[in-house]
Amino acid sequence: MIGRAMERRGLPRIGVVGTGVAAMLIHIPAILDSDYFLLEAVCDTDPSRLASTPGTRLRRYASVTDMAQDPDIDAVVVCTPPDTHFDIAARLIAAGKHVLMEKPLTRTAEEAAELARRAGAAGVELRVAHERRFQPSCERIRELLGERVIGTPFYCGVHWGTTVKLDPDRFVPEDAGGAFRAGYRWRWSSPYSGGGVLQDHIPHYVDLIRDWTGQEPIAVMADTKNVARDLKGWSSDDSRWEDMGVALIRFSAGLTLRLECSVVGRVLSPLWGAPTGIGEWSEWGYIMGSEGQLVFDFLSLHASEQGKIAVWRSSTAGPGGTGWTMIEQPEPDRIRGSAPSGAAKDMFVGQVREFARAIRGERSRSADAYDGGICVAVTEAAYEAAETDRTVEIEFTTRGEDR
Ligand SMILES: NC(=O)c1ccc[n+]([C@@H]2O[C@H](COP(=O)([O-])OP(=O)(O)OC[C@H]3O[C@@H](n4cnc5c(N)ncnc54)[C@H](O)[C@@H]3O)[C@@H](O)[C@H]2O)c1
Repeated sequence: MIGRAMERRGLPRIGVVGTGVAAMLIHIPAILDSDYFLLEAVCDTDPSRLASTPGTRLRRYASVTDMAQDPDIDAVVVCTPPDTHFDIAARLIAAGKHVLMEKPLTRTAEEAAELARRAGAAGVELRVAHERRFQPSCERIRELLGERVIGTPFYCGVHWGTTVKLDPDRFVPEDAGGAFRAGYRWRWSSPYSGGGVLQDHIPHYVDLIRDWTGQEPIAVMADTKNVARDLKGWSSDDSRWEDMGVALIRFSAGLTLRLECSVVGRVLSPLWGAPTGIGEWSEWGYIMGSEGQLVFDFLSLHASEQGKIAVWRSSTAGPGGTGWTMIEQPEPDRIRGSAPSGAAKDMFVGQVREFARAIRGERSRSADAYDGGICVAVTEAAYEAAETDRTVEIEFTTRGEDR
């Protein structure tokens, strides 16, 4: 579905709902620094956040209902907390807008399946911001696995960690006009968000493993902790959700993912000479395969460098198993446009590019509603697993229905 504006100017016109961290640090810079969309309008229910968006030409809306009626917007990026995703997407889809939804697509798999159905019926694209797919180091890992450099992958361990919740006044960054503080507040205390740090990060890594290997998640075990409440004296209202979580996710061809995420503890990556320590968080991991291993460190949003990848192969290893090699990657673009630069910029611009391709009906690598929905299904199953102390199987089958 292509709006009038798109025909007139050649580029689709886009709006952004929710002008907090994800919008200000990720989507708006990526839209402005690339040539895929014209940024036309922003929307936020908080007047101070709405006023903080740059530029005088933008139309500013205080409600999605109003923005949805704007005939000169073809597509909308939604960057609001998860409890708002279903209603906002439903309104935009009903108004014929293409939607790029921040992860998680919804709070429940049922809601995700319903949105997929509505988008299919309305003939609009519903895509999900699983941008790690376009991180240059993630794309390089996908190639290496495709070339079977480490044989058949059977295990992946990931650490995503920050220390912000140990002392928020000192450790939460002041970026994006202080938006991080508000962003962390709802993550830790909103009764509506539907989950804590696992909900924040399971979607990224379920999506990456699917993208890297083609395997589907089939079962999950999980354990959660509320460190701020149980060890640091926070009230249950202030620390409502888990702040540390571990999920063990089994995939269809035998790979196991152990995802460890935390806002109350962080360890540095083992990649020599390049430990994550830049910026707010650490994000690194490793993959074991039948013929070798791979270690990765993606660095944080603020780093101007590429992520780091090192590989060990049984076929080329020396005596005693020596022979780790750093994988060379092209230099990132550090110069042009607004923050973030480096690999993060390549990643976010890649996401915008692939959303534009989807809208044009071209082959696109952006995550669709099924991809987003299965990540939600795994997240839901992880919470059930943590609560019941048992393995929970994953069922999510709308792919056949909505395509
Ligand atoms: N892909 C990533 O790496 C990444 C990074 C950060 C956040 N996110 C996702 O982006 C979403 C937003 O997170 P954030 O950190 O930017 O939060 P945030 O709190 O910084 O920003 C959310 C904004 O949405 C506004 N808002 C809330 N309800 C609204 C409504 N009904 N209509 C219009 N505006 C509304 C708030 O006023 C706020 O300005 C979440 O789903 C989060 O998981 C993804």
